[in-house]
Amino acid sequence: MSKASRVVIDLDVPGPTISRHLYGHFAEHLGRCIYGGFYVGEDSDLPNEGGIRLDVVEALKALNIPNLRWPGGCFADEYHWKDGIGPKAERPSMINTHWGNVEENNHFGTHEFMALCELLGADPYINGNVGSGTVQEMSEWVEYLTRDGDSPMVRQRKANGRDEPWKVPFWGVGNETWGCGGNMRAEAYADLARRYATFCRDHGDNKLYRIAAGASDDDLNWTEALMKAISCLGCGRDPKNIFQAISFHYYTVAGTWANKGRATEFDLDDYYRTMIKAQDIERVIRGHSAVMDAYDPERKVGLVLDEWGTWWDVEPGTNPGFLFQQNAMRDALVASLHFDVFHRHADRLVMANIAQTVNVLQAMLLTDDDGGLVLTPTYHVFEMNKGHHEATAVPVHLVEQPEPYELDGKTMDLLSASASVKDGKALISVSNLDPGSSADVVLDLRGAEIRNPAGRLLTASKPQSYNTTTDTAVAPVTLTGLEADPRGLRVTLPPHSFATISLDV
Ligand code: AHR
Repeated sequence: MSKASRVVIDLDVPGPTISRHLYGHFAEHLGRCIYGGFYVGEDSDLPNEGGIRLDVVEALKALNIPNLRWPGGCFADEYHWKDGIGPKAERPSMINTHWGNVEENNHFGTHEFMALCELLGADPYINGNVGSGTVQEMSEWVEYLTRDGDSPMVRQRKANGRDEPWKVPFWGVGNETWGCGGNMRAEAYADLARRYATFCRDHGDNKLYRIAAGASDDDLNWTEALMKAISCLGCGRDPKNIFQAISFHYYTVAGTWANKGRATEFDLDDYYRTMIKAQDIERVIRGHSAVMDAYDPERKVGLVLDEWGTWWDVEPGTNPGFLFQQNAMRDALVASLHFDVFHRHADRLVMANIAQTVNVLQAMLLTDDDGGLVLTPTYHVFEMNKGHHEATAVPVHLVEQPEPYELDGKTMDLLSASASVKDGKALISVSNLDPGSSADVVLDLRGAEIRNPAGRLLTASKPQSYNTTTDTAVAPVTLTGLEADPRGLRVTLPPHSFATISLDV
């Protein structure tokens, strides 16, 4: 083990509020996320409410899921919401051309999604169809969901069994419109986003937070085109009048798209490449923020990362269009370091949605049709970090830390950390990303008296470790060896581990 690292934490220097929506989720009609994941149908032998699997709901409730994005993804731009309301037997089918070319029977539609959100206690984030849908269709969906009183859409909603309007805070105006959502050019989409967003009305006291479909990775030109479309520098118009946020997507793909590598079978170089790619999210967020700052220095328009996470080759023997992958300790560390970055940029980054909640990509839960339910390592990071929701971020300085690891001319930090304060409690998250060595860490805590420190630890025998229905290899335990130090606290973190330390302040 090398010399101790020192992490200075200014507990009395309040930064931005960490929106709970940075811990948001995403559920697409893709593979076994909805059908066979969240939704098993009313006739299933598995305990369900209206077809929604109850053990899935219970497991997710422990994460305090703040919002759930639906129905896509790429699927959103071929989804026609009117096919998913009314008696199930009469709902038309369609082909899900993006994901496996399977038949979609539309049994999980608007009412089922809203029921799921109610069970989870999550705010709905609905992604409307720009690519193949009309302005009228999107406008009527908003009316159907959120209008009170009497109107054509309200009458339909009531006929389908729901009298009261729902609250829908978040509305996506298309998805990946540079690709699967219509292959548009930035300026062309920017104009469409203005038009569609205009007709997504605020009905009654339901105030929509309209999110324009943003860039892939670090395509800053895309963000600039969208910011230009809502700005008029010097004219005094509020840039957030038309849409209130711009999204972007960033996946941790460590290899190439053709050969992404396996979730549980990888060597050390693969591990380092993954972390390097994951840490690059900070450069990407900085880039989009800088572009937005130029047009919106007061930061009224939000930045939303509504798809992120690891993307591996599918598990052998599974449908390549279903994006089913295992989830190892390495995935947990990708998540923990993303959250540290999110906390640092909480003044512009207002929402993030990991892709996807159940059975797809970097999932929280893996299920099988026999009632098996696996909590993935990533699930535990979300659970351990819950205390950061709506807390005040405080500055964290890694003043002494191991030399960054170098691979292929790129570097990777071996330590990652962030901290926040809320209701007289501080929560510190620290990841030792070094797969081979423990990290001796001094938490140099400034600006508050430290009381009742306690910690939790997530690690495993190797970064490849993962959970199955019969073997739980990765689950949080009490962090032992947390000691007082003249500067605050001292702790030794095992290789490839994630820890949270809470204290009264
Ligand atoms: O999350 C899987 C897919 O990734 C989404 O449908 C799409 O938006 C992105 O390319």
